Amino acid sequence: MKALIDRLYKERTLSKEDFGLLLTHCTPENSEYLFQLAQSVSKKYFGNRIYVRGLIEFTNYCRNDCYYCGIRRGNSRAQRYRLTKEEILSCCENGYELGFRTFVLQGGEDPFYTDEDIAGLVSSIKKSYPDCAVTLSIGEKSREAYQKYFEAGADRYLLRHETANAAHYGKLHPQNQTLQNRMECLWQLKEIGYQVGTGFMVGSPFQTVENLAEDLLFIRQLQPAMVGIGPYIPHHDTPFADQPAGSLELTLFLIGILRLMLPNALIPATTALGTIHPNGREKGILAGANVVMPNLSPVKVRKKYELYDNKICTGEEAAECRFCLQNRMESIGYRIVVDRGDFCPVNLND
Ligand code: SAM
Ligand code: FES
Repeated sequence: MKALIDRLYKERTLSKEDFGLLLTHCTPENSEYLFQLAQSVSKKYFGNRIYVRGLIEFTNYCRNDCYYCGIRRGNSRAQRYRLTKEEILSCCENGYELGFRTFVLQGGEDPFYTDEDIAGLVSSIKKSYPDCAVTLSIGEKSREAYQKYFEAGADRYLLRHETANAAHYGKLHPQNQTLQNRMECLWQLKEIGYQVGTGFMVGSPFQTVENLAEDLLFIRQLQPAMVGIGPYIPHHDTPFADQPAGSLELTLFLIGILRLMLPNALIPATTALGTIHPNGREKGILAGANVVMPNLSPVKVRKKYELYDNKICTGEEAAECRFCLQNRMESIGYRIVVDRGDFCPVNLND
């Protein structure tokens, strides 16, 4: 397997069969070898610098009904909320003082906010904090909407493809949600000029090793600036309540693979990783990730943005999360920096 990992390191991709083979050999020994290479690549481009993004979960209303997600439309027990523009700006003010230079506005697909509302929100944030980047993560919209947000100043867009296999996508979502549309959105976002982030859940129900290999090949094709992956974690009020969570080890293994595939990409150690293991985020960094995304949402709404059970950081203030992560990163020899942390295209052959 080491020869395969070496080849991935050198060529930055493998065939579908070889990705499949590698993924079925996620042993402690292979992981250690992979993580060492992945860390060295991450160190080459980022040193021991870790970028932070302030996550503002501004609405948990959603018109979609993904079977795995706790804020799906069909979950009548979710307590719905929306933040006002003033509340969102006050999260940014708090975040700016704490050293955040990227704000991520994330929410369900909530038709309450018109495209003009979102564009207005983006331009207000950019006007108040011209040295900050704004990332949107609000799902599938029209090309015109994406263009409007971009012109208002949005820099980045996160839209996980969830799974690159159409049949698998169909098992995770109702019929009106299609992989084709999701992928088209991703290509449009790229064409418009966003720094684009995609990703998937590890261990989502019905996922096969072949599906994961397909995810990696799609990512190879899209060449995103950011890739967010995390384990699937069940939520008690969804159709998948009884499905087992994804594994820590496989998630870390995939982070290592992604770092070798996309040496200069921004790869977060996600909240879901921190939820399945108390040191999940530190382990994610040591497997090749270089970003953390502490929560900036007001504490009063945090528990309501419950995508899955036992989500961490729902009782802490923004400042607590910021300093908690600073300590966690320092404990493994890394440091959080005050920086937008943009994607920098580089000649990977140097
Ligand atoms: N609505 C936007 C979208 O669809 O991109 C952003 C919000 S959505 C809730 C953010 C991500 O949460 C999804 O892309 C999905 O991968 C992840 N997610 C949802 N339910 C999850 C679960 N049960 N376990 C782990 N991750 C989950
Ligand atoms: Fe809202 Fe899936 S249920 S994005």
